[in-house]
Amino acid sequence: MNKKRVFSGVQPTGNLHLGNYLGAIKNFVNLQDRFECVYCIVDLHAITNRQDPKELKSNIYETVASFIASGLNPEKNIIFNQASVSAHSELAWVFNCVARIGWMNRMTQFKEKAGSNKENASVGLLVYPNLMAADILIYKATHVPVGEDQKQHLELTRDIAKKFNNDFNCKDYFPIVEPLIPKEISRVMSLRDGKKKMSKSESSDQSRINLKDDKDLIDQKIKKAKTDNDAIPSEIGGLKNRPEATNLLSIYASINNVDLSEVLKEFANKNFSTFKSNLSESLVEKICPIGNEIKKLLKDKNNLNKILINGAKRADLIANRNLKEIYEIIGLTKFT
Ligand code: TRP
Repeated sequence: MNKKRVFSGVQPTGNLHLGNYLGAIKNFVNLQDRFECVYCIVDLHAITNRQDPKELKSNIYETVASFIASGLNPEKNIIFNQASVSAHSELAWVFNCVARIGWMNRMTQFKEKAGSNKENASVGLLVYPNLMAADILIYKATHVPVGEDQKQHLELTRDIAKKFNNDFNCKDYFPIVEPLIPKEISRVMSLRDGKKKMSKSESSDQSRINLKDDKDLIDQKIKKAKTDNDAIPSEIGGLKNRPEATNLLSIYASINNVDLSEVLKEFANKNFSTFKSNLSESLVEKICPIGNEIKKLLKDKNNLNKILINGAKRADLIANRNLKEIYEIIGLTKFT
């Protein structure tokens, strides 16, 4: 009881980029030595938008390969895909009955993703946060590393846990989760527009560094990355209203595990061309080995299958044990 457990979920995507790495995966790697960690590839969340079936499957392999190539240890951590552990869906249904429609309607991510035609969004997109709460609470996880944009969904997870504990008179049954939001960088921005998030859906490949980019491509993209005409300031205050400069300097800080203020000390008053060659060098040194390892891992599907099967078995054991307790609390019975 009261043991700390980390859970996080990542949507399956092909071609992961620097934003996925610095914003999520790198943080997962840091946590693996301090906590018991469960990392889930959330394919059921992915289908809230239409997916190509073949691509969905290959994206699961890409994501697990990227996790492992980045240094996540599949023995130490539980790494699996959501569709393999049915208890997620079963608890999500229970939470559909605990959460209130008003709570769902307040979610800003739903409003953004549904756009102007809310009536035409899938019901899945609306109840997406209930599945997310189920992902976390089926393991009674206590800490959840996420980006800033998922904070509201974690608040909802806490509300669901409290309402369940209260409605069913089981004080402290579900833990009240804490977000773990990386402080140096939780959002890597586009290389073309410092106000937009780096994203695989942006049409220009120049806007992002993909984990599988080679040295020449990284050099070229950084050279062309947007900056401004001023020199690098010596203090963080000098980065005000300079989103592109802030982004590149923050990437450098994060990839080298140093504080932004240190980076500014190092490069104060220098121009961006000097800084950019240093940034390229750091990126090539850190990212290229990961990219090469991803390519290598993707060639051996048997090995990836083994990793996913093993992760699913370990996850299923915990999830089903908890689901049994939860069903008992509610008065649901599986007659088997
Ligand atoms: N919604 C998260 C995202 O888009 C992914 C996710 C699903 C998740 N289930 C989770 C994150 C549980 C943390 C915990 O980034």
